[in-house]
Amino acid sequence: LDFDIKLSQNPTPQQERERILANPGWGQHFTDHMITIRYSADRGWHDARLEPYGPITLDPATQVFHYAQEIFEGTKAYAQADGSIVTFRPYSNAARFNRSARRMAMPEIPEELFVRSLELLVSTDRDWVPRTEGYSLYLRPFMFATSRALGVQRPSQEYLFMVIASPSGLYYPQGIKPVTVWISTDYTRAAPGGTGEAKCGGNYAASFAGQAEALEHGCDQVVWLDAAERRWVEEVGSMNLMFVYGSGPDARILTPALTGTLLPGVTRDSLLKLAPDLGIPVEEGKISIDQWEADCASGKITEVFGCGTAAIISPVGGVKGPGREWKIGDGEPGPISMRLREELIGIQYGTRPDPYGWVHKI
Ligand code: COI
Repeated sequence: LDFDIKLSQNPTPQQERERILANPGWGQHFTDHMITIRYSADRGWHDARLEPYGPITLDPATQVFHYAQEIFEGTKAYAQADGSIVTFRPYSNAARFNRSARRMAMPEIPEELFVRSLELLVSTDRDWVPRTEGYSLYLRPFMFATSRALGVQRPSQEYLFMVIASPSGLYYPQGIKPVTVWISTDYTRAAPGGTGEAKCGGNYAASFAGQAEALEHGCDQVVWLDAAERRWVEEVGSMNLMFVYGSGPDARILTPALTGTLLPGVTRDSLLKLAPDLGIPVEEGKISIDQWEADCASGKITEVFGCGTAAIISPVGGVKGPGREWKIGDGEPGPISMRLREELIGIQYGTRPDPYGWVHKI
C-alpha cells in the first residue's frame, strides 16, 4: 500500500513551533500532518494518506458516535543524543492494537503498515520531536467505525485508521512527585470477559467518574480493584502498578498478573525484563488491598509506582479509601523506582545500551 502524500501549505512557523516545544504540556499541541487509512469489508485497507493535520467531517449516523467501536495506542518518538530520532518497541504497540481490534470485532491492520504509518508521520514532522531530555513526541494511532448505520446486529463494515502526533512534556504537572490514590468504592474498571485488556476508548470514558471521585477526596488518581470480589488491586488511573518489597540488594517487585481485566502495558513488560537485569527479581501475582495496607504498615513494601507510556514511572506516595488511609515512603520517589526510570529512559534516549533491540530508528 503506497501513501498518497500531501504536505501542508501553511505549516506552523518555526518560531511558534519552538515556543511550543519549549513548554509543550501534555496532549495539547499537534504537529502539521496526520495519517489516514481507510478500510472497508469489500476492499480491505486502502486509500493511505499523509495529509495536513485538520478536522475530519463525519455523518451524524457514523457508528462510532453511537456504539463506540474505537481503539487506540500510545507510543513515543525520542530525539537521541546523536541527533537520531527513534521510536520504542513499535511492533509491540502494533500487536496490542490488533489484539484490541479482535476484541472489538474490528479489522486487524498489518503490523508493517502500522509501523510504516508511525515512521512516515515522524519523519515528515521530525522538527516537532522535542530535544529536551524527558520530552518526546507522543504518537496516537487510533481506529474507529465509520459505517453510516445505526443497526447493532453486526459491527461496522468500514473503518478509519489515523495517526496524530503531539509534542509532550511531563504527563503529570507535578512531575515525578509521588501521587496519592483513592480506592474507588462506587466504580470498577473492568469485569471478567469485558474489555479491560483492550485499549478501547470506552474503558477510559468509564474511568472518568472514578477519577472524579478520587479528586473529590483530595487524591490525584484512582485505584481500580477487581470487579468480582472488589479485593484485588488491578491498576491505578491509566497505569499498571508495581510494588517494591524490601530494599537495596534484597529488593524485589510484585505486579498484578494479566488476568484479562488489566491493560497489558508495554512499559510494564519492559520493566519486567529490565528489573531482573539490574538484580531485582520480579513476580507477576496477586495483591489484595488489605495486603497492600498491611505490608506498608509492617514496612515490607518500600515503594509503589504506576507505569505507562505517558507518565513512564509515577511513584505512589499515599492511599486513601473510606475510613482508611496509609502512606508509602517519605514523600520522595524511592530509589528503585528512580533506578528503573533512569534505565528505561536511558535506553529510549540512547544514553544506555539497548540489550533487547527495543529502539527503532526512523
Ligand atoms: C499511558 O500511556 O500510560 C496511557 O494509558 C495513555 C493515556 C494518556 C490514555
